[in-house]
Amino acid sequence: MKSLNDFDIKVFIRQEEIEKRINELAIDIMKFFHNRDFIIIGVLKGSLFFMADLIRQFNKSVLFDFIHAKSYEGTQTSGVINILKEPACNLEGMDILVVEDILDTGITATGIKEYLINKGAKNVFFCTLLDKPSRRIKHIKADFCGFQIGDKFVVGYGLDYDEKFREKKDIYTLHLKG
Ligand code: IMP
Ligand code: MG
Repeated sequence: MKSLNDFDIKVFIRQEEIEKRINELAIDIMKFFHNRDFIIIGVLKGSLFFMADLIRQFNKSVLFDFIHAKSYEGTQTSGVINILKEPACNLEGMDILVVEDILDTGITATGIKEYLINKGAKNVFFCTLLDKPSRRIKHIKADFCGFQIGDKFVVGYGLDYDEKFREKKDIYTLHLKG
C-alpha cells in the first residue's frame, strides 16, 4: 500500500475554471429540463461539492437526494454494484439526473442506472464533473460533462485518494514520485 509521501500532487483544474464550467452546465441543464420536473441524485461521496455548487446555480428549486454505491471488487466487468445508501424519495415515473464526480470505467454509473430504473424511474440522465472516456468498459455516456480528461488519476473537489484530498478546492493530478 502506497503512502501519501510516495506522490507529488500538481494543480490540474483550478477552482475558478471549475466554477465557470459549472455555471455553463447549470444553464444547459435548466434549458434541457425546461418546465419538466426532475430529481437530482448525487453519488456519494465524490459529488458532494460539485452537486452543492451546481444546484445553487439553477434558476429554480429542485428536489435532491443521494445514493452511495460501490462496485464489487473482483467482479470488475460484471457491473454489479453494492448500494450502501439508497435514496429515500419516490422515484416512480420520475426523470432523474444523476450527479457524479467522475465517469471512469462506467461500471458504477451503469449499476446506478439499473438500480434507478428498477425503482421505477422513467428516465435516467447523467451529469459528471469529469469524464475519462478512454477508460470506459461499460457503454454509458454522460448527458452533461464538465471536463473530459485523459487517463490520469485526479483528486480534490470531492475526489479522493484513499479518502484523502476531497476537501481541496482545486483538482490535482497525483504523480508517483521518482
Ligand atoms: P467507475 O470506474 O466509472 O465505476 O468509477 C468508480 C469510481 O471510481 C468513481 O465514482 C470515483 O469515485 C472513482 N474514481 C475513478 N477515477 C478516479 C480518479 O481519477 N480519482 C479519484 N477517484 C476516481
Ligand atoms: Mg473514491
